[in-house]
Amino acid sequence: MSETMLYVSKIKDGTVIDHITGGHALDVIKILGITGRENRVITIAINVPSKRYGFKDIVKIEGREINPQEVHKIALIAPHATINIIRDYHVVEKQRVKLPKVIENILKCANPACITNSNEPVRPKFYVEKEEPLLLKCHYCGYMMDKSDVLKQF
Ligand code: CTP
Ligand code: ZN
Repeated sequence: MSETMLYVSKIKDGTVIDHITGGHALDVIKILGITGRENRVITIAINVPSKRYGFKDIVKIEGREINPQEVHKIALIAPHATINIIRDYHVVEKQRVKLPKVIENILKCANPACITNSNEPVRPKFYVEKEEPLLLKCHYCGYMMDKSDVLKQF
């Protein structure tokens, strides 16, 4: 973004999710369960120019922080995102999202025949084969899940 303009104004207290992969802001909104009917100011910028990645999305949420499970979900679809905690207009904490090598609990296997989709008490487990474009391998059936398989579950 150029020094002379700001697409969305600064916030006083809350969370700024910055450097979201261009075009994925609305997926982040969905992950956070934001409907727009909360009494909060939410600002969303889509496909704004970014020095580092060409284009990026930004989501700013007044008065709310986000939990570790939400951070993991965001990492799946926006591996370069940064989570900034804002207090009294200052960035007091900046965290780059990080995908663990093994993903448990968050996702279901997209292969209907996988044992994790049967009545067996087996918990889904995936290995991150590639971060971008995303490729996850099911520990049980070897099925390769891509970003679109993941987005369908959010
Ligand atoms: N921000 C905001 N409100 C504030 C402070 C910061 O909305 N009161 C936003 C900024 O617009 C930016 C993000 O939070 O999108 C991170 O702020 P900052 O660390 O100041 O910006 P950069 O140095 O550009 O961040 P990075 O190095 O992560 O690109
Ligand atoms: Zn499977």
